[in-house]
Amino acid sequence: MKQQGLFITFEGTDGSGKTTQIRLLQEWLQQRGYRCVLSREPGGTVISEKIREIILDKSHREMDARAEALLYAAARAQHVAQVIRPALEGGSMVICDRFTDSSIAYQAYGRGLGEDVAAINEFATGGLKPDVTFFLRLSPEMGQRRIEGRQQDRIEMEKMEFHRQVCLGYEELERREPKRIIGIEASDSIEAISAVIRQRMEELLSCR
Ligand code: TYD
Repeated sequence: MKQQGLFITFEGTDGSGKTTQIRLLQEWLQQRGYRCVLSREPGGTVISEKIREIILDKSHREMDARAEALLYAAARAQHVAQVIRPALEGGSMVICDRFTDSSIAYQAYGRGLGEDVAAINEFATGGLKPDVTFFLRLSPEMGQRRIEGRQQDRIEMEKMEFHRQVCLGYEELERREPKRIIGIEASDSIEAISAVIRQRMEELLSCR
């Protein structure tokens, strides 16, 4: 039977430099002969990208926090069913920019929705969890500074207190699942961050 691919996710607050590291990891894996599927959340399918537009639209100021959490989960359900599961079953490595941990950090902690967020995501994903998650850690103040001057979406425009809660959420996740979640200082150099990621990937690939 064909070997399942690894499900790799990247997490971090806005402006933490995930995109650069995702690109570097993709190149590194491809050079080693692995097929890679790259995706992002919310998004990754036609339907999920449409849901993304609804969620991030700046004019949707009245969006209820529960509606927001359910929309992220709906986009994720479609993404898992249509892209992530088939790719993993076909033996590809899947690298995803954000996954359920984002909902725990932003909706459970940032919006204060608590434990229900994990439950709706368990339903949405059918229990799918990443094999490894690289979390690029950045203080909320630094994060805000890094995205200043950029076009900001509805979530990025939130108050500093919201971003502080999001950071607390990520810290709690790291404490709860230290085996899966590898926290790395986002202020380290690009090379240093990518070295940590490669080392962990070597370990995971060698025990397959
Ligand atoms: P995006 O432009 O993809 O942000 P980034 O480049 O920082 O990854 O926008 C996604 C926004 O949605 C981002 O602010 C984080 C937020 N988000 C949630 O609040 N919950 C979620 O489950 C996900 C996936 C993202």
